[in-house]
Amino acid sequence: MKLAVVGRGRIGGGLADLWENAGHEVTRIGRDGGDVSEAEAVLVAVPGGAIAEALDNVRGIEGKTVIDATNLLGVAPPEGFSSNAQFVKSRTNGPTAKSFNTNFAALYNRIGEADSTPSNMWCGDEEARQVVEQLNRDAGYEPVYTGPLENAAAQENFVHLTMGISRGGVGPFLYRIAPPDQL
Ligand SMILES: NC(=O)c1ccc[n+]([C@@H]2O[C@H](COP(=O)([O-])OP(=O)(O)OC[C@H]3O[C@@H](n4cnc5c(N)ncnc54)[C@H](OP(=O)(O)O)[C@@H]3O)[C@@H](O)[C@H]2O)c1
Repeated sequence: MKLAVVGRGRIGGGLADLWENAGHEVTRIGRDGGDVSEAEAVLVAVPGGAIAEALDNVRGIEGKTVIDATNLLGVAPPEGFSSNAQFVKSRTNGPTAKSFNTNFAALYNRIGEADSTPSNMWCGDEEARQVVEQLNRDAGYEPVYTGPLENAAAQENFVHLTMGISRGGVGPFLYRIAPPDQL
């Protein structure tokens, strides 16, 4: 598949690496923006508070299948929206999903070491299901559907729980998910 990632940091760059290893062709876009009109699906992985600015700098995203991986840490979604993912849909009017926001990039190079395939949540539009689930599997995860796009705010908030537990040092399981110094 031809893919584009908006945000080429830990999440965007990390997933681009995993997807290229799975045979996809990935265009990587940073804060200077770029054109995604050739892409069949677009991942958005910029700081949560920069989502509007980031989309302003991307051409050709209208109607595309978009996966929003952002989290809102100390910032709110754009005014009038309960989640960044719903804001994304308002800008693209295409199939939209929230995914890759609840697993930590620090472990992308260790997914294969897990005792069983790690789960990765996604919520969003049915029209996005096939692409989102394939891209989850191609990154090494088993996709777990968490409901329609209206659930994106809950999924965005979920990260506070995993970070809280990890920072609290409770249990080896979550420590293995992401040591606190790598969050
Ligand atoms: N790290 C994790 O484990 C993790 C896990 C789940 C979700 N997330 C979420 O995923 C998103 C990305 O996190 P990350 O860890 O990948 O961040 P990161 O490593 O800091 O990378 C951020 C990327 O966003 C771009 N960017 C920054 N400001 C921008 C702006 N104003 N407009 C457009 N692009 C901008 C940067 O562009 P340049 O390359 O040009 O500098 C960079 O490519 C965040 O919302 C984060 O909360 C992170």
